[in-house]
Amino acid sequence: MTLTIEPLHIPESVDAPDAGDWLAYVDIVNEMCRADAGSDLFDGDAATWLVGIRNRAYRDAHTVVARDAAGTIVGIGNATWERDGATTANVDVAVRPSQRGTGIEDAIQRSLEAELRARGLRIAWSYAFVRGDGLDGLAEHELLRPSSGRGAVPRDDVSARFMLRHGYELGQVERASTFDLRADPSTLERTLEAALQVAGAGYEPLWWQTPTPDEHVDGYAAAVARMSTDVPSGDLAVDETAWDAARIRHRAEAKASAGVTMAVAAVRHRPSGRIVAFNEIQVVADRTRPSENIGTLVLSEHRGRRLGTIVKCLGLLRWRELVPSSPVVQTFNAEENAPMLAVNEAVGFAPACWTGEWQKRLA
Ligand SMILES: CC(C)(COP(=O)(O)OP(=O)(O)OC[C@H]1O[C@@H](n2cnc3c(N)ncnc32)[C@H](O)[C@@H]1OP(=O)(O)O)[C@@H](O)C(=O)NCCC(=O)NCCS
Repeated sequence: MTLTIEPLHIPESVDAPDAGDWLAYVDIVNEMCRADAGSDLFDGDAATWLVGIRNRAYRDAHTVVARDAAGTIVGIGNATWERDGATTANVDVAVRPSQRGTGIEDAIQRSLEAELRARGLRIAWSYAFVRGDGLDGLAEHELLRPSSGRGAVPRDDVSARFMLRHGYELGQVERASTFDLRADPSTLERTLEAALQVAGAGYEPLWWQTPTPDEHVDGYAAAVARMSTDVPSGDLAVDETAWDAARIRHRAEAKASAGVTMAVAAVRHRPSGRIVAFNEIQVVADRTRPSENIGTLVLSEHRGRRLGTIVKCLGLLRWRELVPSSPVVQTFNAEENAPMLAVNEAVGFAPACWTGEWQKRLA
């Protein structure tokens, strides 16, 4: 097949006359994602993603489309990395499911990796979905596991074969879980009450809808920065990501401009005044879509006191009131992240599907 790989034309808005390539891009990502995940849970919204892809304040990107001989877009590729001191880049490639295995993905992958090498980036990181029933009936020798032994992907599926062919190693498996926002909240209420008793009066639960109040923004930023260093990352190399008040404010403004609503449940340590735990949930402008858990973290010296449980339960309870039309919250957690999975399972999250997280050192 004759292919032309070229930079994506990024329009001003999804209604602009030149938005066609962007809409095709989003359509291909969603079609492949649905086929691989077996669900529309992760469908992206063109207007929301456009704000993200136009925003280069803290992350840079190289975004391409592949056209066939007739000029039709048949595949897309996107690589993103931190602007400041990055060594790793996230690489996403998508084609129409019917065109899997025709060489389009391979060409896009090679082109993105060449670009990353030219820019001096050393590690490429990719993910691929595994359906909720994707491991059913498979014997151990048909599975591929990361070195942690936690979680698996089918060794012989199209994504695994693609990643292995391009020299990637499976560094981790993540579980995508959902929480039913319409279910009876009494478990959440009881669990929150018990957790507050264990934590004691030294810890103050807080909740806000973004923008973050000035009095909390520095402490919250310091806690968010720990997400890049404290979340179990298996065999994956992760760049430390710097967060300060300006980045927190910038993120909230960008989300608000796309109609995204985000709320934060947090815990303040009364003696020190520090924000020591937080949980973030967001939903796109269409409030009937699934909501997404962004980050959850307790500062290491405050773990084991039920603060993780407090921010989870408080965040979900307030979210039900703030966005009653959203059916579920989805979250991704590493299969070896026993503490986070334990908290989520206790409040009622259930597995939906998985992702293999793959990484490659670029020569
Ligand atoms: C996951 C995290 C938020 C949990 O916070 P926490 O305040 O320590 O959790 P809690 O005290 O509420 O723990 C509740 C339950 O989790 C489980 N748990 C906590 N720590 C655990 C551990 N080290 N190993 C296994 N299970 C653990 C237990 O079941 C615990 O209940 P128990 O005390 O009755 O045994 C915290 O470990 C953390 O910040 N980790 C790093 C960031 C991270 O991984 N975030 C998730 C990204 S997806």
